[in-house]
Amino acid sequence: MVSYKELGLANTREMFAKAIKGGYAVPAYNFNNLEQLQAIIQACVETKSPVILQVSKGARDYANINLLRNMAKGASEYAKELGCEIPIALHLDHGDSFETCKDCIDNGFSSVMIDGSHHSYEENIALTRKVVEYAHAYDVTVEGELGVLAGIEDEVSAEHSTYTRPSEVIDFVSKTGVDSLAISIGTSHGANKFKPEQCTRNAEGILIPPPLRFDILEEIEKKLPGFPIVLHGSSSVPQQYVKMINQYGGKLKDSVGIPEEQLRKASKSAVCKINIDSDGRLAMTATIRKILSEKPGEFDPRKYLGPARDALKEMYKEKNINVLGSAGNA
Ligand code: G3H
Ligand code: 13P
Ligand code: ZN
Repeated sequence: MVSYKELGLANTREMFAKAIKGGYAVPAYNFNNLEQLQAIIQACVETKSPVILQVSKGARDYANINLLRNMAKGASEYAKELGCEIPIALHLDHGDSFETCKDCIDNGFSSVMIDGSHHSYEENIALTRKVVEYAHAYDVTVEGELGVLAGIEDEVSAEHSTYTRPSEVIDFVSKTGVDSLAISIGTSHGANKFKPEQCTRNAEGILIPPPLRFDILEEIEKKLPGFPIVLHGSSSVPQQYVKMINQYGGKLKDSVGIPEEQLRKASKSAVCKINIDSDGRLAMTATIRKILSEKPGEFDPRKYLGPARDALKEMYKEKNINVLGSAGNA
């Protein structure tokens, strides 16, 4: 058993309480490798932002849980070395079973998500409750989910979204004891969040997605005043990176994200954690494609992974400052 407290990490309780009071959202950035982690820590230290390092089941399979845990420990030491002791949580993203959550808690994670949203309501409550009982014994915080996002969550793909029903949230939160609740109000996972027929086009021909359901969010806030709400699927899919990928040999079609103004508005509400993964993938891939195409003789990975890391860092800084509002709140 390794406690996150020995690793210099924090759970999300205090982070969320401060975020709700301060009208901002804590960034939850996914990482799978060294360069992504360096970019996240550098960006969050430079903007003095708290941060949630997110590890998906896919990331665990890709990188190994022991390596990831020690990378998070290193990240907390690295942040201090860079001159700012920011709060850092290590969080399991889309935990699919009690066993996966337990394994992460036993291996130094400070926060876990149990995603029971694909089960029946009763099964979701029972599974989430079981995880909460285990996690709270170790002061680990738990995120549950009600409602289904469209798109791909790890191996589970949902063709249609189901918005969270505000009528269920009080019952779910009180029966499970979760510390935060992920909701479905129109965000979606991946870089292809919406079909073109769901969108309108602006004067430049850019696809504009349907607006988020702020009415549902407001109803949920009224039912659960001051309770931490989480938004998954919140990449904005920067069009400059989509263009760059396509310019240098990629083929990304109809990639549309959540407009930044809508995320800014959500961050000022009870939404205190915003999940972003796809934008990081786009920024890295675009940069790597450009460099490999412009310098075909290059074969030192540091020469393309280094600039990809720098592009990622700049993008995260920009998000912390202008979108989530977490900058200056470490
Ligand atoms: O919500 C899903 C995250 O973007 C993780 O994706 O399972 O491919 O690591 P992944
Ligand atoms: P994006 O695919 O929009 O980046 O969402 C990531 C996410 O929700 C991780 O849990
Ligand atoms: Zn997600």
